[in-house]
Amino acid sequence: MKEKIRIIEGDITQQPVDAIVNAANTTLLGGGGVDGAIHRAAGPQLLEETRQIGGCPTGEARVSKGYRLPARWVIHTVGPVWSGGHRNEEVLLANCYRNSLRAAVDAGARSIAFPSISTGAYRFPLERATEIAMRETKRFLEGDDALKEIVFVCFGPEALTTYQNVFQRVFGG
Ligand code: APR
Repeated sequence: MKEKIRIIEGDITQQPVDAIVNAANTTLLGGGGVDGAIHRAAGPQLLEETRQIGGCPTGEARVSKGYRLPARWVIHTVGPVWSGGHRNEEVLLANCYRNSLRAAVDAGARSIAFPSISTGAYRFPLERATEIAMRETKRFLEGDDALKEIVFVCFGPEALTTYQNVFQRVFGG
């Protein structure tokens, strides 16, 4: 199972996988960070489609096409805004990972790339978010054989180190 996981430093918009996950907001109308990068790389048709989807509640996922991206699909998920950890943030972030994996498999994807959801503008602590990402992915893989590759795309050396450390802890040395 652990051989399906890859941890890299890079730009998610350039990943040659079937589906990339976007850390969106509830409007799905674009934003900054990875959301902005994905919309810029996909082109204006992405916004035309996400406008038709009409929003997405926190913790859920919605599928669109990838347009000019290498990826065939974009899985838009909305992470929780961190507000101290007493507002169900951890459950909602876990839901993002599980619902994104489910949506990708249901669309027919065999490979998926994740950014570090909620750890930028939404200020979720990186280490805790990474632990949630890894545990939910492990749990999903225990019950699914469709996905052949899950890539965690870290946008900087600090995230890369954290992802590598947490991966060892969750998936074993
Ligand atoms: N590729 C991979 N990761 C990226 C990229 C990129 N091109 N750009 C940014 N990141 C990383 C950030 O470094 C951070 O670790 O994605 C992670 C998530 O950060 P944000 O993009 O700020 O997302 P999030 O914290 O979930 O906040 C979402 O920000 O952009 C708006 O519309 C979005 O309102 C929503 C909010």
